[in-house]
Amino acid sequence: MTHGTIAGMIITDLIAGRQNPWAALYDPGRITLRASGEYAKEAINTAAQYKEWVTGGDVSSPDEIAKDSGAVLRQGVSKVAVYRDPTGTLHERSAVCPHLGCIVAWNAAEKTWDCPCHGSRFDKFGEVINGPANRGLART
Ligand code: FES
Repeated sequence: MTHGTIAGMIITDLIAGRQNPWAALYDPGRITLRASGEYAKEAINTAAQYKEWVTGGDVSSPDEIAKDSGAVLRQGVSKVAVYRDPTGTLHERSAVCPHLGCIVAWNAAEKTWDCPCHGSRFDKFGEVINGPANRGLART
């Protein structure tokens, strides 16, 4: 309740073009000195995830994917998220996260595609479950 009231006051002032003493404290883009180390560590981790663009796939062929399981395959310069359903039918989507382009990974425990960069999750067929991605994996 308190932060809702504060948000209302800050947003009203921002719209009206007035200064608000709390605006800097609640600015979502602020980086405090105390948080800068964690921010840098996370930025390095995110950048490291892009190495997946140049690595091979989890498996070299869809034949290696068990029923009700998924894996990332390399197809030329692209990576494809392939799920084999319990009947044996393959479902393919681009493995590129629609948020900022990291390569998703198969989560065998949850049977989801998870993005290691910012935490987006997609169901086994590639439809978005959690953002920040706001749409599913692209059809191939
Ligand atoms: S790139 Fe996938 S969540 Fe940001």
